[in-house]
Amino acid sequence: MSSAAPSPVVAPAVTENPTVQICRGINGLDKVVLRDFRGSSVEVYLYGAHVTSWKNEHGEELLFVSSKAIFKPPKAIRGGIPICFPQFSNLGPLEAHGFARNRFWSVDPSPPPFPVNSSNKTYVDLLLKSTEEDMKIWPHSFEFRLRVTLGPAGDLMLTSRIRNTNPDGKPFTFTFAYHTYFSVSDISEVRVEGLETLDYLDNLQNRQRFTEQGDAITFESEVDKIYLSTPTKIAILDHEKKRTFVIRKDGLSDAVVWNPWDKKAKSMADFGDDEYKHMLCIEAAAIEKPITLKPGEEWKGRQELSAVPSSYCSGQLDPRRVLQGA
Ligand code: BG6
Repeated sequence: MSSAAPSPVVAPAVTENPTVQICRGINGLDKVVLRDFRGSSVEVYLYGAHVTSWKNEHGEELLFVSSKAIFKPPKAIRGGIPICFPQFSNLGPLEAHGFARNRFWSVDPSPPPFPVNSSNKTYVDLLLKSTEEDMKIWPHSFEFRLRVTLGPAGDLMLTSRIRNTNPDGKPFTFTFAYHTYFSVSDISEVRVEGLETLDYLDNLQNRQRFTEQGDAITFESEVDKIYLSTPTKIAILDHEKKRTFVIRKDGLSDAVVWNPWDKKAKSMADFGDDEYKHMLCIEAAAIEKPITLKPGEEWKGRQELSAVPSSYCSGQLDPRRVLQGA
C-alpha cells in the first residue's frame, strides 16, 4: 500500500547543495529544507509533497499549521500547502481533495529541464507516479512533478507539471488546488483584494453561483467560496501585522477562499478551536474548467507567494498598486 514510507531517492542536486537538505521531521517523516543566505527558509515533507513552513528573513512563519496537525498517514497535514489532486473537494468519486496529499513522493533525481533556465539553485524537485493501488481508484497513469523554489527575495514558488502517461491512449481529466493556509494576525482584521465583482460558487449553499460585491473581502463568519476566472494576482492585507501577501498564479483560473470559523473548527479533530482566527486559505485552483490531458500531454500550474511589509495602516500603500505590481 502506498502509505508505507519509501526511503527518499536523493538526487545529486540535493546532496551537493548546502542550501537544500533532507532531514527527519515530525514522527520521523522525511522533509526537505531550503534555506537562503539571508535567513528565509521553506520546509517540504515528502509525505504529500506538503510545504509546512515558509519563513521570512527574520525567521517569522508565514504559513499556518495547526497545533493539532497529525503528521501521520493516511491523514493529510492540517495547514501549510496541501496539494489537491486529482480532485478538488468532493467534486468526484475520490476522497476529499484527492490522494496526492497523502502519498509519499520522492525527490526527483532527473527532472526534465525547465524552459526558463534560472540561476537560482534553492529548489527541490519532487515526483509522484501512479501506483497499482492508485490505479484501482483512479485508473490513469500519470507523472506529477512539483518544483518547490525559494526565490532570492524569500518568495516561495510552486510549479506543478502533470503528464498523462496512459499507455492505452486514453485522456484523463482532473481538478487541482494549492490549498495554501496563510498565517494571519486576526482574521477579522484581514482584507483580500483582487476578487471584488467576480462570480463565485458558494460551497456553503450547494455551490450556487453568486456575484461578489465591489468591496474588498473581509471576514466575519465561515466562508467557503470558489471564485471563478480570477486575476493572476490576489493580495491579502494583514492590517495588524503590517504585512501583505501577494499571490501570483499561472494556469490556475480559480481561487478558493476558506475559513472554517468557530463551529466548523470545533468539529475538526486536527484543528484547534480558536485557530480559525489566525489562518486564511486562499487556494489557487483549476476547478470550474477541469483540465483534460491526452496521453503524452503535460499541464503546468504555478503559484508564487511573496510577503511584503505594508504600511497600509498609515495609508502609504494602495492595495490596488500591489495588485498592479507597483
Ligand atoms: C477547502 C474546501 O478547500 O478545504 C472546504 O473548500 C473544506 O469545503 C476545506 O472544508 C478543508 O478540507 P479538508 O479535506 O482538508 O478538511
